[in-house]
Amino acid sequence: MIKILKSLLPATVAVMGLGEAAAIAQNNAPVPVPVTVTVDTTRAGPVIDRNIYGQFAEHLGRGIYEGVWVGEDSPISNTSGYRNDVVAALRRLRVPVVRWPGGCFADEYHWRDGIGPRTQRPVRVNTHWGGVTESNHFGTHEFLNFAELIGADAYVSGNLGSGTPQEMAEWVEYMTSGSQSTLANERRRNGRDRPWRVRFFGFGNETWGCGGSMRADHSADLHRRYQTFVKAPREAPIVRVASGANSDDTNFTDVMMERARGQMDALSLHYYTIPDSWQNKGPATGFGEDKWASTLRAARRIDDLITRHKAVMDRHDPERRVGLFVDEWGAWYEPEPGSTPGFLYQQNTLRDAHVAALSLNIFHRHTDRVRMTNIAQMVNVLQAMILTDGPRMLLTPTYHVFEMYVPFQGATPLAATVEAPEYRFGDISLPRVDVSAARDTSGRLHLALVNLDPNRPARVVTNVTGMTVRGARGRLLTGPALDTHNSFDQPDRIQPAAYSGRVEGGRLVLDLPAKSVAVVAVE
Ligand code: AHR
Repeated sequence: MIKILKSLLPATVAVMGLGEAAAIAQNNAPVPVPVTVTVDTTRAGPVIDRNIYGQFAEHLGRGIYEGVWVGEDSPISNTSGYRNDVVAALRRLRVPVVRWPGGCFADEYHWRDGIGPRTQRPVRVNTHWGGVTESNHFGTHEFLNFAELIGADAYVSGNLGSGTPQEMAEWVEYMTSGSQSTLANERRRNGRDRPWRVRFFGFGNETWGCGGSMRADHSADLHRRYQTFVKAPREAPIVRVASGANSDDTNFTDVMMERARGQMDALSLHYYTIPDSWQNKGPATGFGEDKWASTLRAARRIDDLITRHKAVMDRHDPERRVGLFVDEWGAWYEPEPGSTPGFLYQQNTLRDAHVAALSLNIFHRHTDRVRMTNIAQMVNVLQAMILTDGPRMLLTPTYHVFEMYVPFQGATPLAATVEAPEYRFGDISLPRVDVSAARDTSGRLHLALVNLDPNRPARVVTNVTGMTVRGARGRLLTGPALDTHNSFDQPDRIQPAAYSGRVEGGRLVLDLPAKSVAVVAVE
């Protein structure tokens, strides 16, 4: 590939070698790197489950309170207590599913605290997240009605760590029973006649850590025990999600699959992208190319992790009945200076847009097992879609990627290969361009392209087998700096712009600026 690159460079550049200097043409503009993408429309994978675009909303910092719920008496514009601006933005994203109430919070949450008249609900201490008081004003009714309001399915995480099987079973009955039982009638008295549809139910969270510090075999046994008592109506079955492994702990997956695969419909996996180490996560803004490269390398690691967990699952479940749900993922940096550390509030930049796009592309390649993922978290926490400051709201670069990728929800992924020289920084080598291709249900082909190189544009020449291409139109997200981000004073500094490709010699050509994400529909 180096040979090809050299042959395409202007003579003045070729004599300078292939370092940074070689990237500069006579007019001082970086020379586009030639990239070839081949899409094989005859090689399709299993459909991209819409739930791969899921969200996670925990009682953490300002994720729920202020982020989603301001209460009916708030001066912030709201409908029945839900902020109108956030609800409208989430509806545009077509959020398929929301996981709630945690996270670590789930294994200390007792659902009865969050029903009945709000003024009479007990106030608790949120011991995991900042030791702040939890008013319980956002409880079962508020969450399930919120999910309906934004058109998402509910994924409720039950308390396996400090609750009882009886408490868990009664919660599910309260939410889903259409009978005349005392619990169903209590729900009616609290304002909800019809049972809710709770499509997904999680049995604990991170049972190996904040959910109970359990070893895998105990975790498997507890899962088996609790799920025995959770009974949803036959006509509205629940997908039982077992709490699974952290990062590369394939032994945890192995034991859960060995001991409890018959009692689960999905197993979870958590993986966070951190630039270097948990002790040295680095800031969300104001970083250099070293952190850009190490963050994208960390984000790409999820590909290998999924591959390894899938291989373990395949040994126990070759028919792939049990889904792998990556129900927490995203970038985790140092909290924003001046914010409460336990609130995990961080800015969100062009780097995060790349983390999101690379991750989604990777999930598209594992649809044989990965049927849900939930980015952490939806509003004001970690790699958020939305940030709020009192009445003000902004959409992050991550939000824009999710919105640009909407056509991939429910589409059929196609095999795509990239030929390009790698992007290198120090000892880090990364693919220069990452691509995902998929056909939506109306037959339209969509391409998502990520240029990881923050310095060099790419000229992508695309071969699409079995299709005469007439052009491509879509949107592009980029910015002048590695940490380009929106602020409350400049909420539209980074947003997608109209973008198109052209056809040369029968082939689609897409000019990708440095550090950019593009999504196009091919005509
Ligand atoms: O998303 C923040 C926390 O990260 C979650 O509560 C926990 O499950 C994970 O460790």
